[in-house]
Amino acid sequence: MHFLKLAIGADHGGFMLKESMMEFIARMGHEVMDCGAYSLVPGDDYPDFAAEVAKAIQRGDAGRGILICGSGVGAGVAANKFEGIRAAVCHDVFSARQGVEDDDMNVLCLGERIIGAGAAREAIRAFLQARFSQAERHLRRLNKVRSMEKEFFK
Ligand code: RB5
Repeated sequence: MHFLKLAIGADHGGFMLKESMMEFIARMGHEVMDCGAYSLVPGDDYPDFAAEVAKAIQRGDAGRGILICGSGVGAGVAANKFEGIRAAVCHDVFSARQGVEDDDMNVLCLGERIIGAGAAREAIRAFLQARFSQAERHLRRLNKVRSMEKEFFK
């Protein structure tokens, strides 16, 4: 088991799931950095928490991140605006593991209004246990994604 520094964030749509998943992740032995929300604020905005998690990864303060909103979609869309962030909604174990192994996904997005705590725990466990395979074809594809970032991100 490799232990990670993990940044986690959620808006009001994901706040309750974030609170319970933080405990679960810490019990697995990982270091959890809470990027907010720090309380349930019905009018808060998912891009703010996506930005905090993305910046923590960009700075190197966290190796990976988890974002939770109502569906997981908004948080993922926002996180992918940051260079070096590869975020995706994965509500199943297969995608959560393969997203890391093949695509070097570094932010797992979950929707509290979609997924229950049990399935969320399993997806998170698969995400945290997986490692990028470094296989030649996956490195080639990752490098193409990186080239797109270089070309299109200002
Ligand atoms: C907030 O109500 C909700 O839109 C947000 O949490 C998220 O689901 C967006 O994708």
